[in-house]
Amino acid sequence: MDNWDQLQGECLQCRNCALADTRTHVVFGDGARDAEILFIGEGPGQQEDLQGLPFVGPAGQLLSDMLEIIGLDRSKYYITNIVKCRPPGNRDPLNVEQAACIGFLRQQTALLQPKIIVCLGRIAAMEIIKPDFKITREHGIWFTRGGVHMTAFYHPSVLLRDPSKRPEAFEDLKSLQKKIRALCSHTAI
Ligand code: URA
Repeated sequence: MDNWDQLQGECLQCRNCALADTRTHVVFGDGARDAEILFIGEGPGQQEDLQGLPFVGPAGQLLSDMLEIIGLDRSKYYITNIVKCRPPGNRDPLNVEQAACIGFLRQQTALLQPKIIVCLGRIAAMEIIKPDFKITREHGIWFTRGGVHMTAFYHPSVLLRDPSKRPEAFEDLKSLQKKIRALCSHTAI
C-alpha cells in the first residue's frame, strides 16, 4: 500500500468531527496523484456525498466544462475539498470542522507537491491563501508561498447563481492557462 492509499484509508475511517455522523461517504479527492495542479473546494455537496467523489454535482459539471475549455481534464489535475464530509444542508463548514480536517489536505498537498493551487471560492481561499481573502476583489490574483503559485476562482456554484460573473471567471481561466504553460512541464495544454 502506498502513502496515498494509506492516507485515503485513514480519511475514510475519520470520526474527528460531527460531520461523520451525517455523511453518506467521505469524499477524499479525485484525479491524478502526480498532478502539477491542485484544485481545492469547500466541502462536498449532496451529489458528492452520495457518490463519494468531489465536484460531480451541477457546480462540478460547470467547473469541468470550464476547465475543458483550457484542455484540463481530471487526468491532469487533482481535486479535493477543505472538509471531506458534507456539511448538512450545504452550510459553510464550521471553523472547528475545518480544523479537524485540514491535516488530510496538508498531507495530500505534501504527497502531491503541486506547482499550482487553485482555491475554489472564499472558504478555501481564506484557509489556504490568507484569512482576510476577499473573493470579489482578489479572485484571479496570484500569490506565491514556498515556491507554490496560488490563486482563487469564484466558486462554480456562485457562477451558476450569478452568470454575470462568468466573463471575469473566463479571464481567471485564461490566466491559469498561461501560468500552467509557464510553470508545468508535465501538463500539456
Ligand atoms: N462544492 C464544493 O466546494 N466541493 C464539492 O466537492 C462540490 C461542491
